[in-house]
Amino acid sequence: MNPTVWFLTSNQGKLAEAAHHFANFGITVQRLEVPDGAVVEPQASDLETVAEAKLRQALAHLPHEGAMVMVEDAGLFVEALDGFPGVYSSYVHDTVGNQGMTRLLEHLQSEDPVMEKRLRAASFQAVAALWDGERILFGKGECKGSIASESQGDGGFGYDPIFIPADLDEDGEPLPPDVLGAVSTHGKTFGAVEVDLKHRFSHRRRALEDLMRQFPSPGPDR
Ligand code: IMP
Repeated sequence: MNPTVWFLTSNQGKLAEAAHHFANFGITVQRLEVPDGAVVEPQASDLETVAEAKLRQALAHLPHEGAMVMVEDAGLFVEALDGFPGVYSSYVHDTVGNQGMTRLLEHLQSEDPVMEKRLRAASFQAVAALWDGERILFGKGECKGSIASESQGDGGFGYDPIFIPADLDEDGEPLPPDVLGAVSTHGKTFGAVEVDLKHRFSHRRRALEDLMRQFPSPGPDR
């Protein structure tokens, strides 16, 4: 039987992205269900602290002894807003939404599209924290890009319809806005492209990859 990672999330999009990723390593992902209110998100200034606090709370709800449990926390960091909404991304999305976010950046315009992308620079960041049965491992990932002037596409979730990823070179590294890369959405947002293409840029995939680099090769049944 494949080893299983129990993922604490209520977000089907995240669950699907993680399952897709871990399948490459022969690992099954299942959703970890906990009673309502059992895991509280702390107020903290960085994603790592939030992820660790949630993971420690989740350890009280292991499905069986020795089980592997993972949490993943992400946020949108806008340069012109000094990194806001960052750790408050969920709250900001639930309150003002994508429309509110684009309105906040309305003044950042230029006739030069490359300059406009620079003014509207942002990144998604993700931290995955995994309890491997003995210790906590952390993986980090980033996806650079910019905020669109208006919402585009209805795919993905969260801020996807307003986030345009920066093109990537052959090695998967982000490129400046005036360079056409080997991997590109051609100016489309994550909300307007297929999941497979988003996956090539994804901060979440990068965080999970970083995690897997530290993970002992899939061993005993868990
Ligand atoms: P959390 O990691 O679920 O707390 O995410 C914080 C906020 O960022 C939520 O509003 C999510 O919808 C949003 N978010 C996280 N990851 C992504 C992503 O890959 N695309 C778009 N929005 C995201």
